[in-house]
Amino acid sequence: MTQTHESDVTTLRAAIEAARAAPSIHNTQPWRWQPSHDGQTLHLYADRSRQLEVEDPEGRLLIESCGTALHHARLALAAAGWRFDVQRLPDNNQPDLLAMITLTGHGDPDEHARVLLDAASRRHTDRRPVTDRPPDQPALDAVVAAVTAEDTRLYLLRRDQVVEIAAAMAAADIIEVSDEAHRAEIARWVGGERRDATGIPANAVPEHAPQTQVPGRYFGSPGTLPIGHGHDDAAVYGILHGDNDAPLDWLRAGEALSAGWLTATTRGLSLLPISAVVEVLPARLALRRLLSGLGNPYLAVRLGYPDAEAPAPPATPRLTADEVTES
Ligand SMILES: Cc1cc2nc3c(=O)[nH]c(=O)nc-3n(C[C@H](O)[C@H](O)[C@H](O)COP(=O)(O)O)c2cc1C
Repeated sequence: MTQTHESDVTTLRAAIEAARAAPSIHNTQPWRWQPSHDGQTLHLYADRSRQLEVEDPEGRLLIESCGTALHHARLALAAAGWRFDVQRLPDNNQPDLLAMITLTGHGDPDEHARVLLDAASRRHTDRRPVTDRPPDQPALDAVVAAVTAEDTRLYLLRRDQVVEIAAAMAAADIIEVSDEAHRAEIARWVGGERRDATGIPANAVPEHAPQTQVPGRYFGSPGTLPIGHGHDDAAVYGILHGDNDAPLDWLRAGEALSAGWLTATTRGLSLLPISAVVEVLPARLALRRLLSGLGNPYLAVRLGYPDAEAPAPPATPRLTADEVTES
C-alpha cells in the first residue's frame, strides 16, 4: 500500500459521503457506516431504527436500500483509483453487518465508475408521467447489462404483460391502504413537516395521481409536485429478480438497482422503482407467476424519458455523513 494512513481515512470518509446520495425506500437512509481506525476497512450495517416495521417487516427493502448505498460507496472508491474487496454478510452472528469493504491497493481511476458517480448527483426519483418517446433499445440493453453485472436479472415486460403488474399493484394498494398501521407509517415518512433529513417531502409527491399504465403507490395526501396531463404509454416496465430470496440477494438487488438506475441516468432515461408489488405477498406471488416461476421478484421498475422541458424533480434531503457514521 503506497498511500499514507491519513489518506486512507479520508478515502473511506469520501465513500461514506458519496453514499449519502443513494436512493432508499421512502428516503429512510437505513444505513450506518463504521470505518476502521487504521483506514483500511469500512463496515456497512443496517440501521433497524429506520426500518419500516409495517411495510417492510422482513427488511427486504431496507437491505435493498443499503445495497444502493454500498454500490455508491464502491463507485466512489473505484473512481478514485482504489482497489478493494467486498465481503457481503461476512458474519452469521451479526446479520446487520451487511458488508465489509477492505482497501487492497491503489491504481488508475476507473473511468466508468467516475461517469456513474457523476450521474449519482443528477439522479432523482421522478414520479411524473414520462414522454411518449419509447426507450431506445441500446439504452435498455445497457441498463439490463448493468443489472446483470451485479448478479441480478432485469426482465423487461412485453406490453401485454403490463396489465398483470398493474393488477398486482392495485391489489397491493387495497391491502396496504386498508391497514391503519400502514397509513400511519406512510404519514410518518411522507409529506408534512419532516423532523429530520429523512422521508419524502411533499414537493417530490405528485399533486394528483399521474396517468400511468401501472397505478402509483399510496402516499397519503397529495403532494405539491406539478404534473402535466401526459400518459406514460411509452414507458417500459421491468422486474428485478434472481434465483433466491434471502438477505444476500436483496443486498445484491440494491446494488443492481443503483447500477441500473445510474446507467439509465447517463442515457437520459428516468427509472422509477415500484415496491408495493413486492411488499405484499399476493402481489409478489403474481409477479413470480409473471416470471414463470423462474425468479424471485425483488422490485418492479418503470423506464422512460422524462419531459426535457419540465424542471428537474426536486432533490430530497439527506442525513449528514456524521449522522450515519460510527467511530
Ligand atoms: C428499494 C427502493 C424502493 C423504492 N420504492 C419506491 C416506490 O415504490 N415508489 C416511489 O415512488 N419511489 C420509490 N423509491 C424511491 C425513493 O422514494 C427515493 O429513492 C427516496 O425518496 C430518495 O429520493 P431520490 O431518489 O430522489 O434521491 C424506492 C427506492 C428504493 C431504493
